[in-house]
Amino acid sequence: MSAQEFVIGQTVRRLDAVGKVTGETPFPGDINLEGQLWMKIRFSDRVHARITSIDTSKAEAHPGVVAVLTAKDVPVNEYGLGIPDQPVLCGPGSTKEGADIVRCISDQVALVVADTEEAAAEAVRLIEITYEDLPIVDDPHQAMQEDAPQLHPHAPNNILTHYRIRHGDVEAGWAQAEVIVEGEYRTGFQEHAYLQPEAGLGYIDEEGRVTVIVAGQWVHKDRQQIAHALDLPEERVRVIYPAIGGAFGGREDMSVQIVLALAAMKVGRPVKIIWSREESIIGHHKRHPMTIRAKWGATREGKLVAAEAVIIADAGAYAYTSPKVLGNAHLMVCGPYEIPNAKVDSYAVYTNNVPSGAFRGFGGPQACFAAENQMNKLAEALGMDLVELRLKNVLRDGSIAVVGTPLPPGVTLDRVLAEGALQSGYWEHTEDGWRRLPLQQPTDPTRRRGVGVAMGFKNVGFSFGAPEENWATVELYGETEIERVVVREAGADVGQGAHTAFVQMAAEAVGVPVEKVELIGHDTAHTGNSGSASASRMTFMAGNAIKGAAQLALEKWRNEERPAIATYQYRAPRTTPYDPETGRAEPNFAYGYVAQFAEVEVDVETGQIEVVRVVSAHDVGKAINPQLIEGQVEGAVVQALGYAIMENLVTEQGRILNPYLSTYLIPTVWDIPKETKSVILEYADPRGPWGARGMAEMPFIPLAPAITGALHDATGIWFEQIPLIPERVVFKLREKGLGVI
Ligand code: MOS
Repeated sequence: MSAQEFVIGQTVRRLDAVGKVTGETPFPGDINLEGQLWMKIRFSDRVHARITSIDTSKAEAHPGVVAVLTAKDVPVNEYGLGIPDQPVLCGPGSTKEGADIVRCISDQVALVVADTEEAAAEAVRLIEITYEDLPIVDDPHQAMQEDAPQLHPHAPNNILTHYRIRHGDVEAGWAQAEVIVEGEYRTGFQEHAYLQPEAGLGYIDEEGRVTVIVAGQWVHKDRQQIAHALDLPEERVRVIYPAIGGAFGGREDMSVQIVLALAAMKVGRPVKIIWSREESIIGHHKRHPMTIRAKWGATREGKLVAAEAVIIADAGAYAYTSPKVLGNAHLMVCGPYEIPNAKVDSYAVYTNNVPSGAFRGFGGPQACFAAENQMNKLAEALGMDLVELRLKNVLRDGSIAVVGTPLPPGVTLDRVLAEGALQSGYWEHTEDGWRRLPLQQPTDPTRRRGVGVAMGFKNVGFSFGAPEENWATVELYGETEIERVVVREAGADVGQGAHTAFVQMAAEAVGVPVEKVELIGHDTAHTGNSGSASASRMTFMAGNAIKGAAQLALEKWRNEERPAIATYQYRAPRTTPYDPETGRAEPNFAYGYVAQFAEVEVDVETGQIEVVRVVSAHDVGKAINPQLIEGQVEGAVVQALGYAIMENLVTEQGRILNPYLSTYLIPTVWDIPKETKSVILEYADPRGPWGARGMAEMPFIPLAPAITGALHDATGIWFEQIPLIPERVVFKLREKGLGVI
């Protein structure tokens, strides 16, 4: 810590801690307005069909019903974060071409607004919808075939996105390769399962703005999408977030925002909705299932010389963030390694499944699962230590990545891996190199233990040329000394503690204790655009904006302005998209680096896996609030553990068979590691505020391959598919003659 830092680097108590512990903090569903009505949504009954007619007469006649809204009531019946390919409400009568087709069960068809929630729920079932079924395609491989049903006119063969990498000369690479390993890796859906399902209120505020109180990740983008669909200027729309019960990428896309605004605008009274858990699981997107074929080659000395990969990602029925998620997977599928010759083809493919989209890691976990399993297989084939092999190949400052350019300066993969390995207690480093320490096996012969390692990298910030901005205002009040500081910064605190970090950074930049700082955020009426609370970007982006605004405000303060108020827009260094032929790009301006070590026990009779201990090593650049970082690490490890071994969303012909937390199992206190150790390293990012890098997604990324590595260590078996549910594990064990009764 440098001498002048006095607030950052400290575990300041979260601003929201007391309110959340006592239950006083309102989440969207807790807020009520005078005279409010209730809304229910009729979701599509079919997976793929054309709606020929909607009869709302019975619903309208139902006691308590105030309004029934369908496609014909939506001014501009389309939305989408990147591509506006989804109708707000599916059905006939709107100007949007193709809006009469439902393409998945998440599609919304009609809204009922009534005096009570019960009346709305009863009436919504009385709407009579006539469908003409269309053929369903629920598998991306089939969807790419010529004769498959076509879902969108802009995507021939349902291919939404195809990226390439053509780096070096891959045939020459294979000629040099002395050892080659291959695999076909498969990953499943994952549900965000955040605390409060989608909920909120729409109303007309005191200035006549159509206003929505909701949980999201980016107030200004929500506002833009609402304004587009309602055909209103953005200034006539307002978005406010109260407390947000987790988001993890699941609140990046619209759920109840537009329909709440539409309903409030139509009826002129406050309208409230709370989704059930089932509605939430059906109604919002999931993590992309991917199939990744990979073939890697190395010399006998363990230098990677060639890699090939094909990624097929199931995008589901609408684009959401698929092009961006696929972009990350495409970048990360060759691992954080220097590979001089590489050929990658990545596809995001429309199907009639629920849309896939953002989820913590954003394509990174799937790619890392393939890349790190490949690395584990190579180490075995070469008879080399897992850490040693990785250290021989990791990208360093100046190394050329498979996209033909170096990572931005400050690449610390080698240190993160080496320090993590030492602090994990599973490795030692001697003059002979890296060596695994022996592991104590359980006395019960049906149980076996192993240790695995995996590493990864994750971009901080939007990628591939997307504009990056963050606005902050700092206001200094007082006469002779600064008595009060007000910061306006819209960045969403989705539960990660961002607001506490913002206040710490403002206090540090102005030079006052945190108690003097007040934050105004989460409201488009009072803040500038800060971009999304996603891509591990908020500390980095908001920190730079707050720092800039504080410097300008302090200058005004010194010039005797009272109050001294300054606004600053931080713009991150520019990035570039993939070249369509070669994939050459400067995709990102900053990264965070991670290495994880997992100790795992498997019951060879039942296939049950216990993740006993996880050590997660990170370069965070600068720990603004160390306890918040530990919270992120521990939370991500639990979430990634669920992804790797438990969470099994079962779909059939586009329908989700287990849309309940009683059948879609997520980790509880019984399932989490006995110990999760955070190793927090601080190698400053030259562009980060006080050197900080992002770190929110990084601890999610390598856990699954660390676990499969540990399973291989325990059993000698390669597991190429997650989730590692017991029946899948047992099947592989029995194949190898293990655990036969
Ligand atoms: Mo996040 S998955 O970048 O919202």
